[in-house]
This record gives sequence, C-alpha cells and structure tokens, in this order.
Amino acid sequence: MGQTPHSQEPATGATTLPGVGEGARERVLSGMQPSADSLHLGNYIGALKNWVRTQEEYDAYFFIPDMHGITVAHEPTDLRERTHRTAAQYIAGGIDVGRSTLFVQSQVPEHAQLSWIMTCLTGMGEASRMTQFKDKTRRSGTDAAGVGLFAYPMLMAADILLYQPHGVPVGDDQKQHVELARNLAQRFNHRFGETFRVPEPFIPESGARIYDLQNPTAKMSKSAESPNGLLNLLDTDKQMAKKIRSAVTDDGTEIRFDREEKPGVSNLLAIYSAVGERSIDDLVEEFQGRMYGHLKVELADVVVAALGPVRDRALELLDDRAELDALLARGAAKARETARPVVAEVYEKIGFLPPAQD
Ligand code: TYM
Repeated sequence: MGQTPHSQEPATGATTLPGVGEGARERVLSGMQPSADSLHLGNYIGALKNWVRTQEEYDAYFFIPDMHGITVAHEPTDLRERTHRTAAQYIAGGIDVGRSTLFVQSQVPEHAQLSWIMTCLTGMGEASRMTQFKDKTRRSGTDAAGVGLFAYPMLMAADILLYQPHGVPVGDDQKQHVELARNLAQRFNHRFGETFRVPEPFIPESGARIYDLQNPTAKMSKSAESPNGLLNLLDTDKQMAKKIRSAVTDDGTEIRFDREEKPGVSNLLAIYSAVGERSIDDLVEEFQGRMYGHLKVELADVVVAALGPVRDRALELLDDRAELDALLARGAAKARETARPVVAEVYEKIGFLPPAQD
C-alpha cells in the first residue's frame, strides 16, 4: 500500500490488551478537524484517500475531532455544520460505514476521560516542543492562546490510544503528535503495566505534504493567504479547474520533479500522481517536451473528474441530516464498545474507582 514505516500484511491473533477482541484484525484510526466548511486537497491526498485504502485490510475507526475544534475561538453553529460536512465528505470520499466505524469525538465521552490522564502524564517541556502549537501561536503569542490549544496533543494521544490501533494514517504534519502518543503509551505501560499498544504513524510515500497552489513552498492549509492557493473538496468544477490552471509554476519550461528548483511543478506532479494514481516518473516522461500549460489543463481535468463526484455525493448526504445523525450515533455506540473497556482498565491501573455505568 506504499506506506512507511509499517507496510507488512495485517496479522491476526489473540491478545490480552483491553479493547481488542481475540483474533481481531489489525486496526487503524484517524480524524480530521471540522474547522472549515470544506476539506481541502491536502486532506484528501494526505489522509482521506489513504484511509479508504486502509479500510480494505484493517478494522478502521475514523472520527471527527470536534473537541479539537473548540481549542480556538469558534461559532457554535459553524462547528455543528462543519461536523456534518466533514462526516459527509468522509463518506463521499469512500469511507464505508458498513465496514469502518465512523463517529464524532464529543459523542464518545471516553476521549475526555483519557485525555485528562494523558495530560497528567505529559511534561511541560515535551508539550512545549510541539511545533503545531508554536506555529499557531506565532502571530499572537502564547498568552493569547487557550490552554486547550496547548493541551491539544494530549487529547490527540487519548483519541489514538483509546482504540489500540496499530497504525494512524496521517499526513506528515501530524507525525510529531503521533510520536507523543507513542511516548505516552510507553510511559503509561512502564509505570502502570502493559495497557496500550504503541501505534505507528502511517504516512503515505507520496502526497504526505501537498503545497499551496499560489505559494508552493507553504503547506496547503485552510488558513491559506490567497483563496486561490487552496483547492477545496466542495469547490465547483469551475473553481477547481481555475485554481489548478492559475497555479504558480517556476522559472524555465522543463517539466521535472525537483522540490528545490521547481516547487510549483513538483507540487502539480505530486497532485497528479496521487489523484490520477500514476507514478511521477511516468508523468515526467509523458510531459517531456510539453509546456507547463499542458500539465495544468490535463491535471485540472483529472482533479475535476475525481473530486466532482465526491462533492456531489457529499452535498446529497447533507440533504438528509437526520440520516447522517443516525449513522453517526450508531458509529459512536460502536466506538464506545471499544473505548469503554480501555478506560475501565486505565481507571483500575491508576487507582480510580471503576467508571460509572451509563
Ligand atoms: P488536520 O485536521 O489538520 O488534518 C487532517 C489530515 O490531513 C492531513 N493534511 C495534509 N496532508 C498533506 N498535505 C497537506 N497540505 C495537508 N494538510 C493536512 C493531516 O496530516 C491529517 O492527517 N490533529 C489532527 C486531527 C486529529 C487526529 C487525531 C488525527 C485529532 N485527533 C487522532 C489522527 C489521530 C489535525 O489537526 O489534522
């Protein structure tokens, strides 16, 4: 499946870890913040596309981390809308709710329960080294940030460890957070006895970092400086094609993959390779002697053909909120079946009385 560092066949077998049934399939877990009206092309390539692949082999858990969505100032109506939109895009992008467990974080209270324990296990020094917190507070300073934003990686560690996953399929910007989750799992196991599986980040070999179309040395992100640099999954066909056709390219005319000298063209090739499922070498050969404009026009067609139907399906799903809510409630109930025994064991190991029944 083209993943590092873990790409062996899933194994089955008995285990004594809480939350893992006997003979259970290997598991993956991941999530994307509902912090914008639409997911973007980086989310799609770096995460969602990969998730869809993993669910074929793994017992997959995909969730919407809405509790992370309140670590910065937010509008309640927007958050609820974006939670629905994110869920709809997961399903439209290929998450099969019959096969995978899809749920919303705040509907599974075990995330908050384990998060506090993870927070108490984390050192100030190691939390202060999280680069995402540094990035997010660069402009306004740390005094202006909420404590929740600082504690966010500990909540993320709880999100992961609650489900005992073998792998966490994410883009490379989340690697440091998965590393913290690994450290906390090891620390807990060392202090209180074997409880958590130590998960691996599953980072795609190509497309782990998609860059802004207008500023191809900056990561594509919802906080893009220019709206044209950010390609949204819910954009119209026309908007998508326009954004690709007006992407910034580089000096010269040659189409080759070179992140240093040709960041713009390399980003377009990486997008083409991931969305069109073609190797970069193959594309470079095909475009030899042709112009940047040819690459952009063809790529615009490929992206619209792949993402247009995802958008249409997502919008269709959003027409029936009751059905979407029912499906998410079923997912939360299923997620809790796994998370509850993990929290119960953690309570026992750290000396709490058993969790209250509900
Ligand atoms: P978030 O919401 O920022 O991003 C969701 C996923 O998209 C990937 N991604 C990208 N991949 C390639 N190129 C890009 N430009 C790009 N931008 C984003 C991210 O790597 C990620 O995989 N903290 C997480 C959400 C989270 C989570 C978790 C993830 C909360 N709990 C537990 C996994 C497991 C986040 O903010 O991702």
